[in-house]
Amino acid sequence: MSDHDILRITGGEALTGDVLVRGAKNSIPKNMVAALLTDEPCTISNVAAVRDIEIVSGLIQLLGGSADRDGDVVAIHAANLHVPEAAELEPFARASRIPVLVCGPLLHRLGEAVIHMPGGCAIGDRPVDMHVEALRAFGAMIEERPDEIHLTVQGRLHGAKFALPYPSVGATEQVLLTAVLAEGDTELSNAALEPEILDLIAVLQKMGAIISVQPSRVIRITGVDRLRGFKHRSMPDRLEAASWAAAALATDGRISVLGARQADMMTFLNAFRGAGGEFEVDEDRITFWRASERIEPLLIETDVHPGFMTDWQPPLVTALTQANGISTLHETVYEDRLGYTKALVALGAQIQTFRQCLGPLPCRFGSRNHVHSAVIVGPTKLHGGELTVPDLRGGFSYVVAALTANGTSDIHGASLLDRGYERFREKLTSLGAHLH
Ligand code: EPU
Repeated sequence: MSDHDILRITGGEALTGDVLVRGAKNSIPKNMVAALLTDEPCTISNVAAVRDIEIVSGLIQLLGGSADRDGDVVAIHAANLHVPEAAELEPFARASRIPVLVCGPLLHRLGEAVIHMPGGCAIGDRPVDMHVEALRAFGAMIEERPDEIHLTVQGRLHGAKFALPYPSVGATEQVLLTAVLAEGDTELSNAALEPEILDLIAVLQKMGAIISVQPSRVIRITGVDRLRGFKHRSMPDRLEAASWAAAALATDGRISVLGARQADMMTFLNAFRGAGGEFEVDEDRITFWRASERIEPLLIETDVHPGFMTDWQPPLVTALTQANGISTLHETVYEDRLGYTKALVALGAQIQTFRQCLGPLPCRFGSRNHVHSAVIVGPTKLHGGELTVPDLRGGFSYVVAALTANGTSDIHGASLLDRGYERFREKLTSLGAHLH
């Protein structure tokens, strides 16, 4: 690991100032994949310079399209595409979940697609069974080979009526990106309705797709024969915004997140206020600070939208190590997302993890014996230490812990944060963090 990969932080500074949050890391890549559904040029603006976007640009180039950045605008043109070898997809699949989403566009345009078993963050098994079953329902023929799945279609994919066993974000996106050009109607029940998905629907609608969203998690799509290019300004990254909010709460600072949008963050804002935080919403920003002297304990249960997002959880839980009392966490989205709490315990936090569901929300993990709940006893003084970034949000939670701790911490593997946090070292320094 190079020196560049170590982030050394001496804690104790209250983070104060402005940070700019640009387009959402979990939205832009899907909109870039939508651009593969047309041979016309497409542009997306407000694009952050984060590694996940570079990865998807590289993927589009591998498929034969172009993806060029000019400032915060990415122009995509997929005039001609071809199906890559599975081995060529491997580095992309190892780095990201996005390659699995290009199947619909490739099947429509080339009659063939391939999935290399994907990578992503180390936060659970993250299978692709729902994606594959959805593609099968549209008429794709599936051939499983070691480490890859090969898909073909004879003629055109057709619309389908089915329900997801769980409202998966990725599987819902897979269905949208496939149904828009399939012949006939599609009805998807138990769909995920995250703001990033509504943003993808907005892009597809600009392209000429016919999609309606029912309040009861049902999405209806009528396939069209062709789609056109689009211009779109990306929605802001609500995960990064919440991460900075948690840093303001934990360090007793005051951070204005420029570009943050209230509507996407309602549930987080309620929890933030419940923890003794306060915020002010202006046209171009949300400002976060700690309202009371103490942080208050919380019960957090993660859930699909409009519930409390799983990606908001690690930085906020880290702030709760400083709360005055006992907080409880019930993670219902990923079965293995609490590994990061071990490192917090090594820094002095008092956190105990459990296999039981510590909250009333329906959950797939209690009966399957996964460690997915935690009790956090605060306040505990944290001290500096050695940390290794486990995944993107766990990594940011270590930054929050190091900022709160007495003494100096070395965070190894910090460049993983470049996947989803634009210029985070610069931002931390400008907020007054003591980086070495
Ligand atoms: N799942 C399956 N089978 C599937 C697909 C999903 O069992 O075929 C399960 C997963 O294992 C997980 C649950 O369903 O337990 C939810 O997964 P989902 O498909 O909703 O997540 P995703 O699309 O893979 C996106 C974000 C994640 C975010 C989740 C939940 C991207 C690139 N990733 O993942 O973001 O946590 O939705 O909102 O959009 C992050 O940004 O750090 C991150 C992990």
